[in-house]
Amino acid sequence: MSDTVIHVGGASPYDVVIGHGITGRLPSILGDSVERVAVLYAGTLGALVDPIVDALVEHYDVLALGLPEGERAKTAPVASDCWEALGESGFTRSDAVVTIGGGATTDLGGFVAASWLRGVRVVHVPTTLLAMVDAAVGGKTGINTGAGKNLVGAFHEPAGVLCDLSLLESLPREELVAGLGEVVKCGFIADPAILDLVERTDPAALTHDSAELRELVERAVRVKVDVVVDDLKEQGGSDGHPGREVLNYGHTLAHAIERTSDYSVRHGEAVAIGCVFVAELAARAGSLDPALVERHRAALSRVGLPTTYDAASFDDLHAAMKVDKKARGSQLRFVVLDDLASPRILAGPGEDDLRAAYAALSSAG
Ligand code: GLY
Repeated sequence: MSDTVIHVGGASPYDVVIGHGITGRLPSILGDSVERVAVLYAGTLGALVDPIVDALVEHYDVLALGLPEGERAKTAPVASDCWEALGESGFTRSDAVVTIGGGATTDLGGFVAASWLRGVRVVHVPTTLLAMVDAAVGGKTGINTGAGKNLVGAFHEPAGVLCDLSLLESLPREELVAGLGEVVKCGFIADPAILDLVERTDPAALTHDSAELRELVERAVRVKVDVVVDDLKEQGGSDGHPGREVLNYGHTLAHAIERTSDYSVRHGEAVAIGCVFVAELAARAGSLDPALVERHRAALSRVGLPTTYDAASFDDLHAAMKVDKKARGSQLRFVVLDDLASPRILAGPGEDDLRAAYAALSSAG
């Protein structure tokens, strides 16, 4: 099957390529003006990275920098180590960064590329489903601070994204399932065909080489691309649409769960729980049909994602939500649905509704 190329328009256009065995496209994306390539990769990937680096070495001076696992890569000291390494190698404005890894790697690597000499080219090679459908696309980069996730960062669009589905072969099943959290989210906010596909497909058949997984990736990437082309810097959409903020459906509670659990809950799992939470909230503080709330639970649990949570108190999560980037002043903001693919912002819901929506997540409920 031929590769799928999804063009991302705007001031800095680029392509997201989806296919199998496509990392050989890197030199054509990086271009001739690049001399040095810094490969920032997830240190745990080991042998997966070697053939990609070996192929790059034939064209460029390659500086390969292994990063700590997961969110531990997204810190100021790790970014600083990368800046020092770039400085020592004489990395110039016409050189380029390639990231190989999951969302934490693309976030950190994108941030290093955005900040080095005020911005050098970066190409992302995501190796997790979550990074393919979300983190690698759209130019958000960042690191965490003690106060929360992604609080320091920059918008820096990649020069290209290579979603090589073959790289998912060695991805642990629970990581693939976590990535489906963002995919199902896209079904609710914009493309219900994703939900239909999830509901009629045997979840065990969603493997790296399946046509169904490929269609889900393509659909989710298209949802994201459509949103970021219209509202790259999250300044808001038109006609009542939340703009890029819509991608944060389920994320306000998700980020609070991740932080209060010290990131022991995977992002995609936390997003699944957060999506059920905002569906419950919309049924109380808005007009979402209870049948659609149940569709959230059914679609997410069908692929193996959690839909209950009671490992933290409402008060602790409420406090954590208040430092979310999306909060404005002391007012919490949530993306909610009025119907499938009909999102809007709910600002400042009452604490009673928040508390009741959280109580509905209890496994004892
Ligand atoms: N991950 C949400 C966004 O890219 O806006």
